[in-house]
Amino acid sequence: MAWNGKLVSFLLHMEVMLPFTMASKINVAADQEVVLCCPAGCKETISPTPNEVVWNYNGNRIIRYMRTGVYKGDTTEKYKFVASDHKNFSLWLPNGKEGQYTCIVNGKEQCIYDLRVWTVPKEIRNRYLLRGETVLLEVISSGNEYPRIEWFSPRNAKVTGNEPRWELCNSERRLQIKNLEVQEDDGTWKCHILPDGPWFSFGVKVIDFLNVLGDNGMTFATIDSRVVLSCPLNIDLSKEKNVGNFPELQSWELMKDNKVIVNENLPSNANSTYPAKEITNVRLEDAGKYQCRFIFAKGNLNTSIHLIVMSVSGSSLGLHADKENMPLCCHISASLPATAELCWAHTNETRCQSHLPNNTFCEENATTGTWTCSLKVENNMKISINYTVAEEPTVKMTFPLVEILSGVGALLLLLILAGLCGCDLKPIRRKRQRARRMAQAKQHLLEKKTCQCERELTNDYYHA
Ligand SMILES: *[C@@H]1O[C@H](CO)[C@@H](O)[C@H](O)[C@H]1NC(C)=O
Ligand SMILES: *[C@@H]1O[C@H](CO)[C@@H](O)[C@H](O)[C@H]1NC(C)=O
Ligand SMILES: *[C@@H]1O[C@H](CO)[C@@H](O)[C@H](O)[C@H]1NC(C)=O
Ligand SMILES: *[C@@H]1O[C@H](CO)[C@@H](O)[C@H](O)[C@H]1NC(C)=O
Ligand SMILES: *[C@@H]1O[C@H](CO)[C@@H](O)[C@H](O)[C@H]1NC(C)=O
Ligand SMILES: *[C@@H]1O[C@H](CO)[C@@H](O)[C@H](O)[C@H]1NC(C)=O
Ligand SMILES: *[C@@H]1O[C@H](CO)[C@@H](O)[C@H](O)[C@H]1NC(C)=O
Repeated sequence: MAWNGKLVSFLLHMEVMLPFTMASKINVAADQEVVLCCPAGCKETISPTPNEVVWNYNGNRIIRYMRTGVYKGDTTEKYKFVASDHKNFSLWLPNGKEGQYTCIVNGKEQCIYDLRVWTVPKEIRNRYLLRGETVLLEVISSGNEYPRIEWFSPRNAKVTGNEPRWELCNSERRLQIKNLEVQEDDGTWKCHILPDGPWFSFGVKVIDFLNVLGDNGMTFATIDSRVVLSCPLNIDLSKEKNVGNFPELQSWELMKDNKVIVNENLPSNANSTYPAKEITNVRLEDAGKYQCRFIFAKGNLNTSIHLIVMSVSGSSLGLHADKENMPLCCHISASLPATAELCWAHTNETRCQSHLPNNTFCEENATTGTWTCSLKVENNMKISINYTVAEEPTVKMTFPLVEILSGVGALLLLLILAGLCGCDLKPIRRKRQRARRMAQAKQHLLEKKTCQCERELTNDYYHA
């Protein structure tokens, strides 16, 4: 307070001592209209009505009021006194030029303004960039004084210049954003010329894959199901490709093990339906990592999809068929992070396991009925398979017979039929084994039906 008091009295003292008025600094945008008040503050009129009011621009008279009329230095310019009633001598500038404006009343300097005009080059107002690129935002003014400038990110974070990817330079007139990412950098950046100058905004669209899948992007599918592998971008190419600086897309590729599976050159007809690879009947061999690549003239966007296939089998681990209690085993094609678990559910009981030897979880003691194996990641169910264990061979016999026989030689067929006829004589144990085989055969049919319902789940991505 004491200091402020001193400052004010010092300034008052200066005004008395010095023959000139202090210039007020005014910052405006290039296309912004501005009113320069005379007298300063816009609160009072000059009274009594003066004999002469002159506005000078950089020392040259641009407009003059006298009792006889108003005279302009350049009649083609649009600037004027705000009022034609000769009471308000403030100067209206539709698009002020940078420089010093002085209002002189009856030959005495009344007020002085230093006008700073700021612009943003048109080509950097709205930009499309690829994730990972570097962009420079800047405001331009020809003056050589440096008012403070504040920058704000699309998430409204004030830029301090200490952020790892954001750098202020050229006295805060430039902001460089390195290694662009969607989460923090996509959207409208703003800057403000202090203390009360204009605001500018910059549209920065960071093009990236819709879900940032990273290396752990996973897609889940059950065996025999249908799955679509695709890597959509966060923009609609057909809508935005005609915008000025839109990056030129050259082609799109899906690869597995360094082999190109799909390759499309699509710049002309690309739209929101992104290229995709459909697998109608997922096999274990389809599991693995796929690389997606969008190739733009100025760089690539890469990501990968990890297809994880789940299968269920009563003997997948080569367990012996004559073992009385054959385990039901649920298998996934790759090891998963610790947050994932496999669960076996039967009637109202569920057992889950997250540590999975050989990516397999077996139910050693499967009783008859429907068993469901499901994969949960962070407690979200990603995918499941139903498996039916049957006890009574005679009940299941008619239904899956054709299925079984199709894969069996004629001789074997006779043997089986002979065996069936003599079933009453066989020990109970054999009967149960056969029942399990029937169930497995039925399982294949079930899986095919089941998997039709799994479509929604198969595109479910997991972020590690
Ligand atoms: C003079 O005109 C300006 C612009 O219209 C206005 O802001 C200002 O208040 C006026 N001055 C007075 C004393 O009315
Ligand atoms: C997108 O383009 C593909 C191939 O050019 C076309 O089959 C499909 O109908 C288009 N989709 C939309 C939504 O325009
Ligand atoms: C994309 O992958 C290609 C080939 O694997 C590689 O040359 C390129 O550097 C990658 N680009 C990015 C941005 O990761
Ligand atoms: C499971 O269901 C059976 C009958 O269906 C019932 O007797 C048993 O109490 C249930 N167990 C639990 C844990 O709910
Ligand atoms: C994992 O598989 C290997 C051979 O494939 C086998 O020797 C080993 O016993 C299995 N481990 C478990 C816990 O099943
Ligand atoms: C197998 O089932 C029996 C009852 O049916 C139960 O007592 C036993 O604990 C189960 N074993 C395992 C490993 O779940
Ligand atoms: C498994 O069966 C249960 C009921 O028995 C059903 O609610 C569920 O949708 C089935 N799951 C699949 C994957 O078909």
